[in-house]
Amino acid sequence: NLPFIFLLQLSHVVGAAKRPTVCFRRGLQTVTLIPGDGIGPEISVAVMKIFEAAKVPIQWEERNVTAIQGPGGRWMIPPDCKESMDRTLIGLKGPLKTPIAAGHPSMNLLLRKTFDLYANVRPCVSIEGYKTPYTDVDLVTIRENTEGEYSGIEHIIVDGVVQSIKLITEDASRRIAEYAFEYARNNQRNSVTAVHKANIMRMSDGLFLRKCREVAEHFKDIKFTEMYLDTVCLNMVQDPTQFDVLVMPNLYGDILSDLCAGLIGGLGVTPSGNIGANGVAIFESVHGTAPDIAGLDMANPTALLLSAVMMLRHMGMHDYGKKIETACFDTIRDKKVLTGDLGGKSKCSEFTEEICRRVRDMD
Ligand code: NAI
Repeated sequence: NLPFIFLLQLSHVVGAAKRPTVCFRRGLQTVTLIPGDGIGPEISVAVMKIFEAAKVPIQWEERNVTAIQGPGGRWMIPPDCKESMDRTLIGLKGPLKTPIAAGHPSMNLLLRKTFDLYANVRPCVSIEGYKTPYTDVDLVTIRENTEGEYSGIEHIIVDGVVQSIKLITEDASRRIAEYAFEYARNNQRNSVTAVHKANIMRMSDGLFLRKCREVAEHFKDIKFTEMYLDTVCLNMVQDPTQFDVLVMPNLYGDILSDLCAGLIGGLGVTPSGNIGANGVAIFESVHGTAPDIAGLDMANPTALLLSAVMMLRHMGMHDYGKKIETACFDTIRDKKVLTGDLGGKSKCSEFTEEICRRVRDMD
């Protein structure tokens, strides 16, 4: 049944419509909020409080996400969450637990599939005052989110021999390359680096690279470079400041985006956004549910807050985004009110209140 599975995968991407431009109205906007599990509800409350202090014209529509089985046993997200996302087009999401051996797929994967969230975007920017071995990191990883090694096509050829298929298509490669160049242009960035292993995977990564080159031809104002994944890793740990926007297939993006998060202090301070084909976008903290500290008022809400700031910029609310980001970075730089993971002793609620105070002082 290999050709059948293959066609299923292909129809998924080949049939994708061209990305629509979403224009957000002025006035009160509705955003779907998925608080998630573990520390998710605590850090979501923190973000809501800070948004309230900054008087951001957003109303939240809260939805829970647990896997349910639809007709034919197909796993799906709850219809009220799907309906809300289809209507608002914008979501902010806390971490979701993936129960081992629960029989259903990862909820994050399910969300990705449901809304065809094809681009994972992670800006990695050094936070002044938060000491890491690297300073002045300012780069963005853009990861193709729908295919590559994550196609889910695996077979046992004979006992003891397993084959896993890496799927790369022209359409998905072109759309992620277009997204990366548009992102660079819209965010005043100067260069895009395509990360690949076309020397080894000549056909699959070769196709990905060819599409990047073709798209680059239409963006002459953005410098285009291509680099092997191993060279990027070496150069990244030697001097991350040489990179700007990086675009890459799925698995390379999974690994490289975590490596880059490590350069600026880890997943607790790294925001992320997932952009979908039909105008949907979901912004999320990339850390997990932190079950060891859930309910103890110890969580650091920074990653979800910075993801919410990314969301505001996506919605064109740049001034609100800047205000909240400044208050958050100033709080961290000041070092007086910090959560445990940032080296402080303060509670999540105290850290949140400090950011709220600074936001109010800006008025
Ligand atoms: P984790 O990220 O939840 O925890 C790792 C360590 O980091 C823990 O010590 C935790 O206390 C700490 N930590 C994480 N976020 C923090 C925050 N905001 N503030 C302070 N400390 C924080 O990773 P783990 O334990 O591997 O996963 C737990 C659950 O989360 C699993 O069910 C996993 O599937 C899920 N998960 C969900 C993700 C998502 O929804 N995007 C991503 C990663 C894991």
